[in-house]
Amino acid sequence: MALITCQDVSLAYDSETVASSLSFSVGEGDYLCVVGENGSGKSTLLKAMLGLISPRQGSISLGDGLKSTEIGYLPQQTAAQKDFPASVYEVVLSGRLAACGIRPFYSRKDKELVEENIHRLKICGLRHRCYRELSGGQQQRVLLARALCATSKALLLDEPVAGLDPLVTQELYRLIELINKQTGLTIVMVSHDIPSAVKYASHILHMRSSQAFFGKTADYLRSDVGKLFVELAEDGSGGGSGGGSGGGSVDADGSVSNADSDGDRGGRRV
Ligand SMILES: Nc1ncnc2c1ncn2[C@@H]1O[C@H](COP(=O)(O)OP(=O)(O)OP(=O)(O)O)[C@@H](O)[C@H]1O
Ligand SMILES: [Mg+2]
Repeated sequence: MALITCQDVSLAYDSETVASSLSFSVGEGDYLCVVGENGSGKSTLLKAMLGLISPRQGSISLGDGLKSTEIGYLPQQTAAQKDFPASVYEVVLSGRLAACGIRPFYSRKDKELVEENIHRLKICGLRHRCYRELSGGQQQRVLLARALCATSKALLLDEPVAGLDPLVTQELYRLIELINKQTGLTIVMVSHDIPSAVKYASHILHMRSSQAFFGKTADYLRSDVGKLFVELAEDGSGGGSGGGSGGGSVDADGSVSNADSDGDRGGRRV
């Protein structure tokens, strides 16, 4: 079942259109990577999926009773956000704010979810630390725990590995993959790390002010736009502003290999 459907969507700020002709859907349990050049509208699209901005044209609909407040979101990091003066526990707990609605306190279930995700992200030892004193990798774990507290259905991650070292990057990718596979949580991730995008994602959306490609990862690797972008990413070892190479490599036939990977996601070799 489609959880998020975009139909002929155009996105704009004031009079300036930043992306147009976006038509695709994200199914339950999918792992969609949104790739594309800087400024192509990836972050704007995530904000539109969350209902934070309205499409200039077309529609974005949520299926299976999903409400936008039930979507977990890890925003693209800015210097100001990294300086947030709260404890790790408070930051993770704030992931339950939308679920509280008009209730002026956190329930026992809210606090249980916080404990569950603090353990899942292995940040128990950091719970009393001030968020702004953490390393970039620790901060991303905290924000992922926060986003997980907000949802049991869909997680939107905007460049979650940007600026992290290759080891921490791989740890986060594996964790996100595990969550996707074990809980069936739908993942939408913006990334400039093309080798990892094609290694982990089931689907790719390539934005280039309009929609350059949407479909299964294997088809993306066979497409002209996919081949070119993968090639550019390899030449530039990472393909842009975010993350490292991700430890994966794309073979000449378009297949992706990695020494640590099983190389086969449900029978699909990409
Ligand atoms: N709040 C805003 N007001 C006006 N213009 C904006 C705003 N936010 C983004 N833009 C513009 O919209 C365009 C798309 O921005 P967006 O942040 O969505 O790109 P992106 O694909 O996420 O880029 P990056 O890969 O650098 O993160 C850019 O030209 C940007 O300058
Ligand atoms: Mg962005």
